[in-house]
Amino acid sequence: MTAMMWLAAQRVTEGTMTIGDFVLINAFMMQLFIPLNFLGFVYREIKGSMANIENMFALMELSSGVKNIDNAPDLEITKGAISFNKVSFHYRPDRPIVKDLSFEIRAGEKVAIVGASGAGKSTLVKLLFRFYDPSQGSILVDGQDISQVSQHSLRQVIGIVPQDTVLFNQSIFENIRYGNPEASDAEVLQAIKLAHLQSFIAELPDGAETVVGERGLKLSGGEKQRVAIARTILKRPPILVFDEATSSLDSKSERSILSALEEISQGHTSMVIAHRLSTIVDADRIVVMDHGSIVEQGSHQALLAKKARYFELWTAQLRDQT
Ligand SMILES: Nc1ncnc2c1ncn2[C@@H]1O[C@H](COP(=O)(O)OP(=O)(O)OP(=O)(O)O)[C@@H](O)[C@H]1O
Ligand SMILES: [Mg+2]
Repeated sequence: MTAMMWLAAQRVTEGTMTIGDFVLINAFMMQLFIPLNFLGFVYREIKGSMANIENMFALMELSSGVKNIDNAPDLEITKGAISFNKVSFHYRPDRPIVKDLSFEIRAGEKVAIVGASGAGKSTLVKLLFRFYDPSQGSILVDGQDISQVSQHSLRQVIGIVPQDTVLFNQSIFENIRYGNPEASDAEVLQAIKLAHLQSFIAELPDGAETVVGERGLKLSGGEKQRVAIARTILKRPPILVFDEATSSLDSKSERSILSALEEISQGHTSMVIAHRLSTIVDADRIVVMDHGSIVEQGSHQALLAKKARYFELWTAQLRDQT
């Protein structure tokens, strides 16, 4: 454009062109270059979008291994009893994870599951939430096989505080509200209080509006756990599952949150997975797992009296503490 204008300006000074010609050339050039420029921009945009569209279609073509049966009825929850019937499960056929495992959680009971790392405790939670279907056996909630009811209704009645919480890159407030999108602001604030988050939130410049970063990377492990607990408190489901829910907290916060959880789980069925045995001594029943099977179960006192697996775990932890 500069070259053309330079040539035209020379012709004008030589007197072979008029000022009008100069303006005409300028106008032509602009009309030509602006659309050309725009075309380049659109081309780049389209290329970028095509890459995204390809990814999206690849994702849409994936189908989930766990499917609703046709016209699946909703789960009818009455009391919230859970029963695992001879459940076997493997992620890969050559490595069984859960082996012919049966146990029951009666309505309103608090059952703790303990055992070595990798025993398959979190896998039981995934099976209960129906992220996977058992390869054999069945899981019943209030007498209904969970593979025969709609997944939505099943997940509605179970609240999980998972071992590794995933947060959305949104404000803390919205992340908690995710537990129950219909909750009012006052209810969310109440949940924040019960999960002992208010003093942490008060320290933040943006308060509850602080954005937590991708997957929640701007929060500490304990803070993330408390957000997950607040979520579950807000959901108030009939069945509660805690998978190492307080493992990243200091002893003092842990104690106060446990008492809050105690209050909330009053009258609800709950399943608690814990490594720190001191947090589950009050459970109605303790199930000890090893390599995908149950090795013993009973109350804290009964298991101690047996002087077997649980007794070993307990004395080992006591020794560490002293
Ligand atoms: N998605 C997966 N694919 C393949 N193997 C898996 C998968 N998830 C877990 N496993 C394996 O299954 C076994 C049981 O895992 P699980 O998470 O249930 O253990 P856990 O008892 O919860 O242990 P921890 O106390 O460390 O949380 C582990 O050995 C693990 O390697
Ligand atoms: Mg686990």
